[in-house]
Amino acid sequence: MKKEIIALYPGSFDPLTNGHLDIITRASRLFPTLIVAITKNLNKNHLFSLEDRIDMLKESVSDMHNVKVVSFSGLLANYFDEMKANVLIRGLRAVSDFEYEFQMALMNRNLNANFETVFLMPDQDYTFLSSSMIKEIAMLGGDTKDFVPACVEKKLKQIKKQNQ
Ligand code: PNS
Repeated sequence: MKKEIIALYPGSFDPLTNGHLDIITRASRLFPTLIVAITKNLNKNHLFSLEDRIDMLKESVSDMHNVKVVSFSGLLANYFDEMKANVLIRGLRAVSDFEYEFQMALMNRNLNANFETVFLMPDQDYTFLSSSMIKEIAMLGGDTKDFVPACVEKKLKQIKKQNQ
């Protein structure tokens, strides 16, 4: 039995949504230490720079004292050991997320036998939320205030203005 469990929640967070924040809140209540680790998803084109994503995350979790925000590059399977993590957190919104998440969890366990993935479900109010949808809505002038933290909404508006 492990005494001090370190949970790692990786993602691209481009940008952070209220759904991600809900998962962070739940994980921070379950585990003594939660590391939110931002990285590049090689299968996606990111709108926000790594620095912006770090800033928005740090601001949004500033009241959660057991949550640390970091960034990493390279394989998650290696970073998991580097951080001495015991549990990997991923959010599951719907059955449609399952196949990709299941594949990733098992591939990571093949790369690193220590890997344990724990899936958390967000509040049902957030099951329809995705970062890509948020970006599309914001870039087309739609209102995102109900779906993302205020600092993210502000940044989305800035980027929309720059692109005009
Ligand atoms: O928020 P996302 O984009 O769904 O997160 C996916 C992420 C970043 C967790 C995944 O792309 C990842 O682990 N990237 C790091 C590189 C890696 O280890 N790739 C192999 C995954 S099996």
